[in-house]
Amino acid sequence: MSKFWSSFVKDLVPYVPGEQPKLAKLVKLNTNENPYGPSPKALAAMQTELNDTLRLYPDPNSDLLKQAVARYYGVQGNQVFLGNGSDEVLAHIFHGLLQHDQPLLFPDISYSFYPVYCGLYGIKFDAVPLDEQFQINPADYAKPNGGIIFPNPNAPTGCLLALDAVEQILKASPDSVVVVDEAYVDFGGETAISLVDRYPNLLVTQTLSKSRSLAGLRVGLAVGHPDLIEALERIKNSFNSYPLDRLAIVGAAAAFDDREYFDKTCRRVIDSREQVVAQLQEKGFDVLPSAANFIFARHPRHDAAGLAAKLREQGVIVRHFKQERIAQFLRITIGTPEQNQALIDALGDL
Ligand SMILES: Cc1ncc(COP(=O)(O)O)c(C=O)c1O
Repeated sequence: MSKFWSSFVKDLVPYVPGEQPKLAKLVKLNTNENPYGPSPKALAAMQTELNDTLRLYPDPNSDLLKQAVARYYGVQGNQVFLGNGSDEVLAHIFHGLLQHDQPLLFPDISYSFYPVYCGLYGIKFDAVPLDEQFQINPADYAKPNGGIIFPNPNAPTGCLLALDAVEQILKASPDSVVVVDEAYVDFGGETAISLVDRYPNLLVTQTLSKSRSLAGLRVGLAVGHPDLIEALERIKNSFNSYPLDRLAIVGAAAAFDDREYFDKTCRRVIDSREQVVAQLQEKGFDVLPSAANFIFARHPRHDAAGLAAKLREQGVIVRHFKQERIAQFLRITIGTPEQNQALIDALGDL
């Protein structure tokens, strides 16, 4: 702390991201990155862009990428918003669309950045408990609110809410913005983007960090009614005109265009997930049903923090949250078959 800090900064509680270790040899299963590289076509597009034009600012509207996303999802360009990672997109959504008199609703166990944005933008919130099976119950959200946000599949549980249940939430709060954070949807969910033309209060966010393996590029997006998108553009153009650089625009657009590579790598992750779930269950773990590129598991006889420490000693890092209700769970990212085997071997004979 310093005398130069404003009282606002003194009171901020920032988000703590998963560790990015400096040791290269670790088996890194802690931040839900994709074990397979980005599309070779995305890499080639970025290499071509790596030239003298980098002296020029990028297109502030990132139209090339907007059009690629619009094509992919069968929507219009003015229904797409882009940002520097979906974290930035979410920040603008909280700032521009979720700051109201009534509290924002989100699950008690959810993406831990949501309460941080509430702190940053002075938004009241009400954490709605997941049910006993760690599922979202749509009826719990049918109450006065200034907005609703939840990841689908949820994080860190990995559990999926069916599209008709998402619709139930949308119908019960027609006067609030409902944000479905689909960071992990490509690993087993169905996107709610198919609903945006019917629900003007729906905003769907996605990221290229997971299923398109571009966490290092920082690209995220939102799809919704043009009026919602316009609010986000107003915030963005009052904050940073160029959130996406030239490499990000062409790389992300090429990644969207390369469906074949995307399908193949998602399939591999899903197949590995099913294998890891079976192996962990054999060792006595309870594993929540996952539609994501990670699983959330607990062992009835072994303390989660102890297990995480034991894994770390053997060079495997997973994520453990010291949070009520989930302190006995580990969140484990699905890696390559070799990485997954290293996890299973490191757990040993429990
Ligand atoms: C639920 C959820 N939403 C959003 C994000 C942010 O992703 P990014 O900023 O990399 O697009 C994450 C990252 O882990 C996440 O878990």
